[in-house]
Amino acid sequence: MTAGPLRIDVITIFPEYLAPLRESLLGRAVSDGMIDLAVHDLRQFAPDRHRTVDDTPYGGGAGMVMKPDVWGRALDSVLPVERSRTTLVVPTPAGEPFSQSVAEQLAGRGQLIFACGRYEGIDQRVADHAATSVDVRELSIGDYVLAGGEAAVLVIVEAVARLIPGVLGNPTSAVTDSFGAGSLGLLEHPSYTRPLVYQGLSVPAVLLSGHHGQIERWRRSESLRRTARRRPDLIALLTAAGLDPADMQVLGEEGFAADPQPAISSPPADLAD
Ligand code: 6GU
Repeated sequence: MTAGPLRIDVITIFPEYLAPLRESLLGRAVSDGMIDLAVHDLRQFAPDRHRTVDDTPYGGGAGMVMKPDVWGRALDSVLPVERSRTTLVVPTPAGEPFSQSVAEQLAGRGQLIFACGRYEGIDQRVADHAATSVDVRELSIGDYVLAGGEAAVLVIVEAVARLIPGVLGNPTSAVTDSFGAGSLGLLEHPSYTRPLVYQGLSVPAVLLSGHHGQIERWRRSESLRRTARRRPDLIALLTAAGLDPADMQVLGEEGFAADPQPAISSPPADLAD
């Protein structure tokens, strides 16, 4: 169907930072040819003797900005002739939030190019010009500031790679992604294994009962309880239609009142951008 391995190009001034991409199960996917990975040193594309990649910002202010001409040459070196299945990912704290849904979108592409910025970022015209010929996503991995995009690339590539069938011990992607807490927008329930008693703490008795209905009910309630306590923002997104009386009881215990009106969770699709 969608042919060949996923091609991943990472452009950075710290190529060694991306060494973990060749480790562990991800590294296996690369050495087995399921992912075609290349890491490129941005400084190769700097023409001057000092291999300068940054300059002072127009308008003044602190920090340095990465030069567009250097980035332009680097991107030209990895962009294919046929660009319809290529996405340029620019990791930045000013990006749209990276999420499981974005990971799923990226996993369906033919080529991902990651442009790692350092300093105060990359001249905006690099992304703006690239967007005239490829899909461009400026992405943030969370509400905190990293020194550069490299660590974010490690995060994004791992999240994307495990969605590719056969890549990361990914036996039943359809099953694991279509059922359970995650598909409902809930946090996962806690898990236990032997011994039955550890440091004086017992495994919850229901898990030993062999009663699959009660076990599923307990797990769902624990998912809801955790979500209510740790991610109340996610509770607001739950649709009342998907909640049964036992769910409502748990939410009540956690201090959430039943909503008289359907929750307003997002703007109309045609205003969302
Ligand atoms: Cl993608 N890059 C940087 N530099 N900082 C971040 C980030 C990305 N996501 C959150 N903080």
